Amino acid sequence: MNKINIGIVGLGTIAKEMHVPTLSTFKDVVIKSAAEVDVKRGREFAKKWNIVGVYEDYNKMYDNSDLDAVFICLPNFLHYEAVKKALDRDLHVFCEKPMGLRADEAFDLIKIAKKKDLVLAVGYNRRLEKKYEEAANIVKSLKLGTVLQAHGILVNPGPYAGWIPSSDWFFKDKYGVLYDSAPHLIDIMMHILSDQITEVSASGISTMHGLNVFDNIAGVFKTERGAVGTFNVGWKMAANYDSIQVHGTGGSVFANPFEVEVRHGSYGSLERVADHVKLAKNIIGSQVGRMSGDKRPNETYFRGDRAFVDAVLNNGNPLVSGEDGLGVLEVLEAVKESLEKGESVKVEYREKL
Ligand SMILES: NC(=O)c1ccc[n+]([C@@H]2O[C@H](COP(=O)([O-])OP(=O)(O)OC[C@H]3O[C@@H](n4cnc5c(N)ncnc54)[C@H](O)[C@@H]3O)[C@@H](O)[C@H]2O)c1
Repeated sequence: MNKINIGIVGLGTIAKEMHVPTLSTFKDVVIKSAAEVDVKRGREFAKKWNIVGVYEDYNKMYDNSDLDAVFICLPNFLHYEAVKKALDRDLHVFCEKPMGLRADEAFDLIKIAKKKDLVLAVGYNRRLEKKYEEAANIVKSLKLGTVLQAHGILVNPGPYAGWIPSSDWFFKDKYGVLYDSAPHLIDIMMHILSDQITEVSASGISTMHGLNVFDNIAGVFKTERGAVGTFNVGWKMAANYDSIQVHGTGGSVFANPFEVEVRHGSYGSLERVADHVKLAKNIIGSQVGRMSGDKRPNETYFRGDRAFVDAVLNNGNPLVSGEDGLGVLEVLEAVKESLEKGESVKVEYREKL
């Protein structure tokens, strides 16, 4: 196989802004068809991108469209069924994050994909930010010595005020931000640490009038290698911000999508000034595209989508696997239980297949 046919399931924000424009740049990909319940909107968009087949029901697309793979870009609560049905029809799957809402269902999906030798990838693109990858390599190189603490934060205005203007499904799940921002943050942290979160204790608040939905959650955790840490996710912020800190006996790393900084021992004012200048340069650089109205998809989507296509073509592995997606859901289930019970909860990981 030297070219693959892809179908897109759900032509909403992420499909339109990121995956379709990205996949369209690949010479070895044909976006053969798409499924969208809002058929009128779907057809308008598909026409713009020369996508020939538009279906209201993705089952019909799976059955009739001669596909090798699908991208699941649906609301979270629809992921499991759409992925399962695609795997049942021998299609490779890229599922946007999270990989469904339940760990036991995600585990089922991995079993099916493994048995059928199909690629199952998850859209945790944010861990692919170059600066987060640098941070992961620094931790792996043991330059920080024994890691004792890690802290992560991911806050943004949230679905209505943010980059997803119209969808209300985000507010139908009482756990709100837990299955929206927390999946990315947990994935980034476990990836950077090369470690697993084993125990969590979380608190959450719901501040959206008339909606009983957690919009801000903070938690503490322990890891398998004996570190402790905190995670914070929130909607309704003016800021759109994420960053990770890892502290070890030999040094610390501070990372966000624009910079990564390592500190060993004392830290002088000259180094501080140099870092600020470097940071300002990075931020200005990253904003120039936005100011000039450049809406090209973020490079992390390019790398994630490219790796998925390569995995399908060459029988290889994606950058973020179904197993990674499952691990995140296992942690989120412990966070959920902790929110309910108000106590610390151990994460139950399933055996690796
Ligand atoms: N990787 C990231 O950083 C990132 C960013 C944003 C969203 N996402 C994820 O992408 C997914 C979609 O989010 P979004 O922001 O594009 O949402 P959205 O609401 O904008 O898009 C979802 C689309 O699916 C369509 N749809 C709903 N039910 C359908 C069905 N049964 N069949 C076909 N189409 C159907 C809707 O009409 C809508 O067009 C979510 O899982 C979200 O978590 C990931």
